[in-house]
Amino acid sequence: MTPGRPGPVRQGTDRPVRRSAVVGAGVAGLQTALVLRRLDPHHEVLLLCKAALAESNTRYAQGGIAAVVPRRSGDRPAGTAGDPAGDPAEDSVEAHIADTLAAGAGLADPHAVAVLCRGAADGVRALERAGVVFDTGDTGNSGDSSARASLARGREAAHSAARILHIGGDATGAGLVAALVAAVRADEGIRVLEDTLVTRVLLDGPPGSTRGGAPRATGVEALSGGRKRQIEADAVVLATGGAGQLFEHTTNPVISTGDGVALAWRAGAVVADLEFFQFHPTSLDVPGNPLISEAVRGEGARLVDDTGRAFMTDHHPDGDLAPRDVVARAIASRLAPRLTSQLTDRTTGRGPRVRLDATALGAAFLARRFPSLTALTARHGLDWSADPVPVVPAAHYWMGGVRTDTEGRTSVPGLFAVGEVACTGVHGANRLASNSLLEGVVFGTRCAQAITAGGGAVPRFDAEALELDADGTPTQSFRRRDLQVLMSDHAGILRTQDGLDLARKHLASYHPGTDPEEANLLLCARLLVHAAADRERSSGAHFREDRAQAAPGHPVPSRSYVRATRGATP
Ligand code: SIN
Repeated sequence: MTPGRPGPVRQGTDRPVRRSAVVGAGVAGLQTALVLRRLDPHHEVLLLCKAALAESNTRYAQGGIAAVVPRRSGDRPAGTAGDPAGDPAEDSVEAHIADTLAAGAGLADPHAVAVLCRGAADGVRALERAGVVFDTGDTGNSGDSSARASLARGREAAHSAARILHIGGDATGAGLVAALVAAVRADEGIRVLEDTLVTRVLLDGPPGSTRGGAPRATGVEALSGGRKRQIEADAVVLATGGAGQLFEHTTNPVISTGDGVALAWRAGAVVADLEFFQFHPTSLDVPGNPLISEAVRGEGARLVDDTGRAFMTDHHPDGDLAPRDVVARAIASRLAPRLTSQLTDRTTGRGPRVRLDATALGAAFLARRFPSLTALTARHGLDWSADPVPVVPAAHYWMGGVRTDTEGRTSVPGLFAVGEVACTGVHGANRLASNSLLEGVVFGTRCAQAITAGGGAVPRFDAEALELDADGTPTQSFRRRDLQVLMSDHAGILRTQDGLDLARKHLASYHPGTDPEEANLLLCARLLVHAAADRERSSGAHFREDRAQAAPGHPVPSRSYVRATRGATP
């Protein structure tokens, strides 16, 4: 801060912002931390991660980061159709916006989408400045970082152009994390607390109270080495990622337990779009369900049934590159006899299979373009250049989350959320492939800008007060596996009213217990099921088998919820 000049002040006060606690170290958290420091070298950043710094959902991202960027470094970004700065014959920012809105099934927020897609070229440049090296050349993975080399661009489902930038062929997340973690480690102003679970957002008043203004976040309570401690901060940024552990099959790591949504809910923040959970169509059907990137279908691989017949054109004119929710449903309906059967059959794998046939791409291309997947399939004794490999849809990304504006501000002063945990509305009912890394970069940057500028006005979101305790009284303990099976059977890809009612009843009977992560999962499950039961018609990733047809016209806007608090001044 320049001596003698007043610095930015905290939201609603005249005190300067000095210290932020960033919770979570995926691309959104890392980017937020780095930009906070770049904008204000005096700003202290505490980066809290519940595992090791490099472990996050981001690390497992393969396909890439969607971005319309110039063909060569130094060019201006592609602009709107008709804008000479762009290259409309090949791609444009407007086309990226249109694809994102279409994927969102009429529920994506056009302002947030424009912010995301227009911020992509700058975001990519910022990543490159931070040390990220994208693949160059036609098929990628050449590692040529020369300033004039063209970035390689992959294609993924529901994109009207090849615009997916990648790293190491199919190791984009790992490449991003390596570069950003190195930058974080090199910055003495960022204190990293690993193996530290945040258990509470500290507030200066009771959550939900409106007496004397809404309470503001003043720091976090954190658990490390069996001890809890309180850490003060002027701004708390949730960047905790998603909640794939809600379901039996997930591409997310074991730490994806919905912590940020649970923390924000208990702090009285508004949440939204919780019924929309994206299942990736193709995880390898082996324990742990590692992702098989959509980029493989983008290069020409096909989904086939037990007879070897490619079936996706039965479901959508775009076939294997249909929107992600359509492909996931098509596979799930074929696998239904096995996925919802008795647990022994689920685990022994008896029943129908769907396979991904990449054999036509050839061994040399597969090894060059998808080196990590070639190694992964080989580790499981599979040669994907010779035989189709078994796949199953897996919980991948939660479109819903903590409601924020496009600067990451939540409804609680001093509390911000960025990346998957946040719901800016940018994804609507279904996220477009490879928009999630972009989301972390663009909104992480904007959040850091807002914090260093003093926070800004707290947004107001309309929300329904929800009293979850009204659902019933907890009578039994539960294991994570019980919850995952219940959620997969009744609140996963295919849903019915009866199934959701049953799930709601069971979840209400589960006691949260003493493990904070299990308690967070249970809370997220209850919120998701509540929101899903409230949306009677199918939309995007929320599919009601009993009322499959989307209502004509614009879909019903999503509901937002806030925790009902007794005694709060209305
Ligand atoms: C993939 O590589 O298929 C995942 C990309 C994404 O989740 O957007």
